[in-house]
Amino acid sequence: IGTKEIKGLILPGAIDLHVHFREPGYEEKEDFYTGTLSAAFGGVTFIMDMPNTNPPVKDISSFQDKLRRVAPKANVDFSLYFMLGNNAEILKEVNPAFKLYMGETTNVEGGEIKSVENAFISVHAELSECIRRESKNLRDHDLARPESCEVKAVKMLLGKGNYHIAHVSSIDTIDLCKAGRFTYEVTPHHLFLHRDMPLGTYGKVNPPLRAKWMAEKLWEELINGRIDIVASDHAPHTIEEKEQEFFAAPAGIPEVETYVPIFMYMVKIGKLHLSRAVEILMQRPAELVGVKKGKIEEGYDADLIAFNLNDIKKIRAKDLHYKCGWTPYEGFNALFPHTVIVGGETVVENYELVGERTGKFVRIGGE
Ligand code: NCD
Ligand code: ZN
Ligand code: ZN
Repeated sequence: IGTKEIKGLILPGAIDLHVHFREPGYEEKEDFYTGTLSAAFGGVTFIMDMPNTNPPVKDISSFQDKLRRVAPKANVDFSLYFMLGNNAEILKEVNPAFKLYMGETTNVEGGEIKSVENAFISVHAELSECIRRESKNLRDHDLARPESCEVKAVKMLLGKGNYHIAHVSSIDTIDLCKAGRFTYEVTPHHLFLHRDMPLGTYGKVNPPLRAKWMAEKLWEELINGRIDIVASDHAPHTIEEKEQEFFAAPAGIPEVETYVPIFMYMVKIGKLHLSRAVEILMQRPAELVGVKKGKIEEGYDADLIAFNLNDIKKIRAKDLHYKCGWTPYEGFNALFPHTVIVGGETVVENYELVGERTGKFVRIGGE
């Protein structure tokens, strides 16, 4: 599809299989209302929320408590992950979506490899034993959690089940994923940011930002069709937490409102084919988890986003809807959707909120 002459564009809503909306337990960073509001404004109409909350989501009662609490606040459709631990066979009847943390990251220690049949398992592939803990700056953090740590973790999964590898940060991991027939995601920050940018703690994330050449290499893979999906890993922390010295500051970057608009800008300037953008942001993620979304077609949910391709804006933290109030993409060019429709109901119109809390829980793995 040539985009030079196109002005208006209507697409299926984007699907983000990896966000941390922090409820329950860490509502000072984000809550389900502000998280899903940010998603809507960024053109994301379905999200899957991670279970590293307090308490973590690890059994039926913590799942139902969370669902009861977040459902009335949802501005977009959503699904919820379980921690992959005990009773997975029973839990998958509730929702066959699991998170496997192989190594330590925000609020988790990391644990043993497990597998479940016929479920979607998103893996945080870093091993605690590989991690050096005294990093003092971004470049150092990269070396403290080297790419080899990710590679080693994915190697350990080979032949042990069907996995989806989260936030792949190295080209070597991609080759391994192909060999293991695993699906995998790349985050916007591993594509658009790198360790030599002056971001300080605001660029601290797990896995770490890599060298500039690696970000460029991952982008090349993406445009050449070798990457399954982009997922945001939206992981906000407060400015107060990020203002600590590097070692003490928590890892994580807010992303959910800005990544689709940055990708659409890339389409606008000819750096990414529109059909490829639709594949990695919408169609393929929907297919991976088995939801009737990501396509404008009979039988699919009416989740739609509309753009004016001439309306380029600069990203400003003050215009975003995150509770944390910051973004590492300050000043980046972006194309935000002027209209966002979730399940046939208009949520955003003319860049303004017009309807809210119409999102619903979606069990994954359907036909
Ligand atoms: C995530 C968080 O803060 O919850 N942080 C991060 O750096 N990505 C946890 C995670 O996805 O590893
Ligand atoms: Zn992770
Ligand atoms: Zn994450």
